[in-house]
This record gives sequence, C-alpha cells and structure tokens, in this order.
Amino acid sequence: MLIRLNKYIAESGYCSRRKADELIESGKVFINGKCVFELGTKVDEEKDKVVVEGNILNKVNKKIYLMLNKPKGYITTNKEQFSRKATYELIKENDRVFPVGRLDKDTEGLLLLTNDGEFANLMMHPSHLIEKTYIVETDSLITKEKLDSLRKGVDIGGYITKEAKVRRLSKEKLEIIITEGKNRQVRKMCKAVDINVLNLKRVKYGNLELGDLKCGEYRLLKSYEVKMLKNM
Ligand code: URA
Repeated sequence: MLIRLNKYIAESGYCSRRKADELIESGKVFINGKCVFELGTKVDEEKDKVVVEGNILNKVNKKIYLMLNKPKGYITTNKEQFSRKATYELIKENDRVFPVGRLDKDTEGLLLLTNDGEFANLMMHPSHLIEKTYIVETDSLITKEKLDSLRKGVDIGGYITKEAKVRRLSKEKLEIIITEGKNRQVRKMCKAVDINVLNLKRVKYGNLELGDLKCGEYRLLKSYEVKMLKNM
C-alpha cells in the first residue's frame, strides 16, 4: 500500500510526523538509495527501503510508551551527541523510542518517550493545549505582581506567552502550568519578571503525574494512562 513518507517514518517509531517533515526537507531521508525532499512523497510499505539519518526503518509491531524522570545534565535526544549525556542512554528497552517534545539540559522531571509517531504528534500539536506543570525554585521572594504578570503573559523575546496558571507554593517556590511549549519557555518567562531559576522540574503532563518515580528511572505507561493522554 502506498502511504505518505512522513506517516511511514512516524509509524516506524523513528520520530513524530512533524519531525519527519523536517528530516525530509533537510535531505536526511532516502528511498531506495535516492534522497527525497518532497514532503508529499509516497512510499510502498511492502517494497520500498527507507533510510533516515543512516538508519534503515522497519515497521513497528508493538507500540510502547514510557515516562522517564529525566535528571539534570542530560540532553533530550535519541541520537549520540558528541560526548554529551543524553536521555536515550537511560532507556534499556529493545525497541527504539524517541522523546515527545523536549526538556532542556538543566531541567529535570517528566519526559514521555514512545515509538508511536502518531501519539507524539497528537501530544505535541499546538492545537491540543495539553497542560504541562512545572515547579520553579528560586532564591528570593516571589511578589504578587510577578505572579500576576506570569499569569497574564509576558514577553519572552518577541512572543507574548498565553495565559498561564501560576501559584506560589512557598516564599521561593512556584507552580507554573502552561499549554504552550516554546523553547525554554518557563525559564524565559521567569527571566522576564526577574525571577532567578535555581531549579526547574516538570511534575505533570496533562493528568499524568511523575509521582515517586526516582530521578534517572523510567516506567512503562499503563494502557489506561495512554488512553487518558490520547483522550485529552
Ligand atoms: N520550560 C523550560 O524553560 N525548560 C523546559 O525544559 C521546559 C519548559
């Protein structure tokens, strides 16, 4: 059967459909030895050999979904990146999985990983407005004015953030819930109101909570948890 190339890549568990489009456009995808750049390209699932960044793709038989408590100091990637520590090193599954979105190197906490490209696409699509909950620790008193600004939206370098749910957990601790996922968004929001971030941790993704999963450890999601995320 002929299917779109980005769908084929996503279904093989390599990455999300959106990421697949980026890879196609940047000349990293080959079909039967020929580099393709056209986003609308179709592949024959039975016959064509698709290679992405040097990896031969195969169809995924079993979809898996993981939640990792990412430690600080790890970059979110499924590829080797020079000598930097990367999240894929922490995953000991036979099936290759890729991260759903990103947590920056110095941020810890809940990171989803999967080989289901459609699921990743669903989670990351900006129209789905999934709430992500972060805990910020700082070193000075967080004023009410700062909380209000964060709630209403702040300028993070040419972009005004959407309304956020923000509450003070203690004098120097803050919970921020956002639905967007701009690069280093929480850090930039805090910087915009002069809050010095000492520690940043994601504790919840939609209704899925990190709970008592230890730093550096991961677990498979239960099927009801996957269903809940899909239905959000
Ligand atoms: N906001 C950040 O600043 N960093 C992350 O990793 C996620 C959200």
